[in-house]
Amino acid sequence: MLPVTTGISPPRRARVGSTSNLTRRLGRQAGTPAAIVLAALILIGGISFLLHNRISDEEEGHGLHVVSSKRRSLADDSGGSGSGVAERIQLLAEGAELENDRMAQLEDEQQQEDSDSELSGTLFGAKEGVKLANGQQVAAMAAKTGARNAANSRTRSTQFQKASPSRFAKKLEETRHRVGLQAASRQRYSAIVSSFPSQPEPAVEELSEAEVARRREAIKAAMLHSWRGYEKYAWGQDELCPVSQQGKNSFGGLGATMIDALDTLHMMGFHEEYGRAAEWVRSEMPLNASFDASVFETIIRVVGGMLAAHDMTGDKVMLERAQQVADRILPAYNTTTKIPLNIINLATQQAKNPTWNQRASTLAEFGTHQVEFWRLSQSTGNDTYAELAEGTIRHLHKGWPQQGVMPLFISPTTGNFTARRVSFGALGDSYYEYLLKMWLIKGRQDEMYRSMWERAMDEMINKLVFTSREGLTYVAEFDRSIIKHKFDHLVCFVPGMLALGAHSGAVQGAKAERYMQLAADLTHTCWQMYHRMPSGLSPEYVTFSAQGMKVGAAYNLLRPEALEAMWYMWRLTHDWKYRAWGWQVFQAFEAHCKVEAGYSGIKDVRAATPVPDDTQQSFFLAETLKYLFLLFSDDSAFDMDEWVLNTEAHPLRTTQPKQEEQQHERQQQERKRWWWPPSRSKSGGGLISGSDGSGSIAR
Ligand SMILES: *[C@@H]1O[C@H](CO)[C@@H](O)[C@H](O)[C@H]1NC(C)=O
Ligand SMILES: *[C@@H]1O[C@H](CO)[C@@H](O)[C@H](O)[C@H]1NC(C)=O
Ligand SMILES: *[C@@H]1O[C@H](CO)[C@@H](O)[C@H](O)[C@H]1NC(C)=O
Ligand SMILES: *[C@@H]1O[C@H](CO)[C@@H](O)[C@H](O)[C@H]1NC(C)=O
Repeated sequence: MLPVTTGISPPRRARVGSTSNLTRRLGRQAGTPAAIVLAALILIGGISFLLHNRISDEEEGHGLHVVSSKRRSLADDSGGSGSGVAERIQLLAEGAELENDRMAQLEDEQQQEDSDSELSGTLFGAKEGVKLANGQQVAAMAAKTGARNAANSRTRSTQFQKASPSRFAKKLEETRHRVGLQAASRQRYSAIVSSFPSQPEPAVEELSEAEVARRREAIKAAMLHSWRGYEKYAWGQDELCPVSQQGKNSFGGLGATMIDALDTLHMMGFHEEYGRAAEWVRSEMPLNASFDASVFETIIRVVGGMLAAHDMTGDKVMLERAQQVADRILPAYNTTTKIPLNIINLATQQAKNPTWNQRASTLAEFGTHQVEFWRLSQSTGNDTYAELAEGTIRHLHKGWPQQGVMPLFISPTTGNFTARRVSFGALGDSYYEYLLKMWLIKGRQDEMYRSMWERAMDEMINKLVFTSREGLTYVAEFDRSIIKHKFDHLVCFVPGMLALGAHSGAVQGAKAERYMQLAADLTHTCWQMYHRMPSGLSPEYVTFSAQGMKVGAAYNLLRPEALEAMWYMWRLTHDWKYRAWGWQVFQAFEAHCKVEAGYSGIKDVRAATPVPDDTQQSFFLAETLKYLFLLFSDDSAFDMDEWVLNTEAHPLRTTQPKQEEQQHERQQQERKRWWWPPSRSKSGGGLISGSDGSGSIAR
């Protein structure tokens, strides 16, 4: 079965049609008192179902926060720690908010049919600050859920019939309150971006060597500033709270920022700082903190960070520690299908999955161990790690051989997908990245990964890539046969990945050119997400509708993906606009995120003076500043043939393709890549910092 591909249909028309049917049905029902009662019952059924789920999430929600910030869209306004509960509520709200075409349709019909407005207004209390259109839409959603629920679940409907009227009224009141709050905040967030004053256009010009060096120094100074704050206030903890000037543990207490910063410090030539961090890893890093750690985060940040430090310096302690942490994670793989669970307690080694998605394992989580575990096996000579991690990909390859894009959730018990939601953003993203990067790190020979990647990219391009009326290209999401025109900042990793794939020969000829063009278009959209905001910083996600790009969630967590794209595009085209864009993004971080003790995320990118969220994410040091540094470094700073960056931007050594193959490939590249710039300075394969000579790396 092909749960996704069969489900994605050319979306817009079909969807708008069915929505309008739903609306008409509601409108007709509104005509008779009996129909109103029926609609209300269905609606209440939906609400009780949603409430029930929310309550059980809250009961079992413990531990969810640990898998928060790298890959999830955080739902709460504060930009603080996300949770399954928050995400569920967000999904509900998104369901109401993000169906933009549908929303427009509803609004049109609303003008024509007063009865619709009355119905939704009555049910959802416009008086309480819920905008009519939102109310109507939530009502439509809830009614739809209710109808599905009533049809599918006798149990739940009996439950809801048994509920006493007063309990019922209370629940309705609670839900109304919650939905009201949510709708009000959504409304706040959906200001149309195109109406914002734009930042001044950056001058796109070729810079002198001295100017490039000056900018590189400014970026290094930012790294030092972030690091010093961490050293002073949060030493040994996962993250710095730069405003309250303290530390916090959010990833298992393994010193995530310390380890994430290692290779960036080393690349930038901060050897004393590197030395202090390495000494902490050697003698103080706790391996058994009793904390529900995310398997995924621990692998990409901690295992990946130490493997990179080992690859860059040859320091054996880094490898030993990486292996020790990996060994503590392995029990997560002890499932009938060998699909790993998402959460593990490093002290007790008890593994589990979160409850909010029916204890399924998440695509981006189990699909993002392969590069680290493969490299770990290579470095230690023990195949266990690679075999386990690669086993999950082989499972997908064997079970769904024709399918490229995969749903987000899979049951570790049955090995089957449990939902049909698809995303290249939160929960899905780095699975696709690792298909390509596994092909690269294994010496470009393992056809399984390459073909799976190509299939996924082609499906993405055919079904999920859209261009907005204002000419911005984006990758949409898919959920139960509905396309959601939502674009996470996280998806800005896609252009870098496409460019890397095209450059490295994963696809060739005209197709490589198409991928490269799409990479350029998407990078432009990612840039616009910064450029159009009053603060010059991107929101967490935007949505697209007939009116244009809108802000989805307004917070900024200092995320790296857009800069990652700009760096890859700079490297592969040497178009100066990418340096101009990247510099402007850096200026916005300097203006709005820099505080006395480091850099903080902000709560609302539309504010002239944004409020800080008091978190310096560890990926700011691992990725954001590293990509900026590379953007203003010579090409020789990073050899793309010898190194692959894991999804946390930790560089790992690749296995080189055989000599002849390499030569053949080069010839092909020269023939077929018209955009490929003349080689500027070919390094000897090292990973060294810019032309100022700092931070060269010993083997
Ligand atoms: C972790 O290990 C250390 C020494 O190996 C021990 O003293 C400590 O109690 C352990 N902590 C936990 C939470 O198991
Ligand atoms: C794996 O799981 C089985 C069944 O749950 C259990 O009996 C076994 O001890 C576990 N093995 C490890 C290494 O955790
Ligand atoms: C490889 O590592 C696994 C997991 O730590 C261990 O159980 C196994 O004994 C190791 N194999 C060898 C040959 O060292
Ligand atoms: C997985 O799904 C397939 C196809 O729907 C079904 O035949 C199979 O029984 C399922 N496996 C399990 C273990 O549920």
